[in-house]
Amino acid sequence: MTSGNLLTDNPELYEVRFPDPDRLAGRWTEDCLRRYGAGSVPVRTVLDLGCGTGRDAAYLHTAGRSVVGADLSEAMLAYARDRHPGPRYVRADLRDFSLGAFDAVVCLDSSLLYCHTNDDLDGFLASCRRSLAPGGLLVAEMRNGAYFLGRDDLLNTPKVNGFDWQGTSYRSTTTLHIDRTAQLLRRIRTWTADDGSAPVEQHSAWRLLLPLELRHFLAAHGFTVLALHDGPGPRTEPPWREGDLPGTAADADRLHVVARLTG
Ligand SMILES: C[S@@+](CC[C@H](N)C(=O)[O-])C[C@H]1O[C@@H](n2cnc3c(N)ncnc32)[C@H](O)[C@@H]1O
Repeated sequence: MTSGNLLTDNPELYEVRFPDPDRLAGRWTEDCLRRYGAGSVPVRTVLDLGCGTGRDAAYLHTAGRSVVGADLSEAMLAYARDRHPGPRYVRADLRDFSLGAFDAVVCLDSSLLYCHTNDDLDGFLASCRRSLAPGGLLVAEMRNGAYFLGRDDLLNTPKVNGFDWQGTSYRSTTTLHIDRTAQLLRRIRTWTADDGSAPVEQHSAWRLLLPLELRHFLAAHGFTVLALHDGPGPRTEPPWREGDLPGTAADADRLHVVARLTG
């Protein structure tokens, strides 16, 4: 058994497993950027943190923005440069970065939750503040920690998934559990393949961030919350559609936040 992340080490497989053919995440983000703007001016420059394969960064580039995509994974960045050209892609850690000045910072599909500790969150928000002019926007979309208060439907039971990719059959067994002390949602995923390779065990964790906790961190770093809700969004059921307005509840399993730097 070896350790690794089959999905982030193989960005092509990542896009196969998490398809977004209609660029829903990019379109939802673009809608937020247009709806709120950067103070009195439109959003022109965007930093996509934890950009992954680059498909959202490239969508925003195609929509006319000047975009930088940043990620910690060299494999993701190489794939993004090759398959989703347009933005500039750079290696950076979202917990402490300095990549220039932007009108908006976006952070999609739980990338923000790689800030595991309060110091990580402070580092992320201090870096965002340094990167934005007053009026600049922060747009993020992630799991909602509050969903797990009193619900265990996603927890502790192994979920098995099978699929074929490039002539090999893969099987993943995934278990989520809550580490209350660290306030993390931990995932153990075991991969097996029928190509004779050894099984791979992958460990991941996301911060369990509660909506009011997020509001507190944002306010402490000079941000005013413009929207904070559980949907509709790009990964909700039903998914967001053009023209949908932001909701007001924060109960379901996804959290969407738009905040403006005002302080
Ligand atoms: C779930 S993926 C989301 C990718 C992309 N935002 C999307 O929505 O498709 C999370 C990404 O965050 C990156 N990541 C994890 N920790 C990071 C960190 N500390 N700094 C920057 N990127 C990080 C991973 O390499 C991965 O590409």
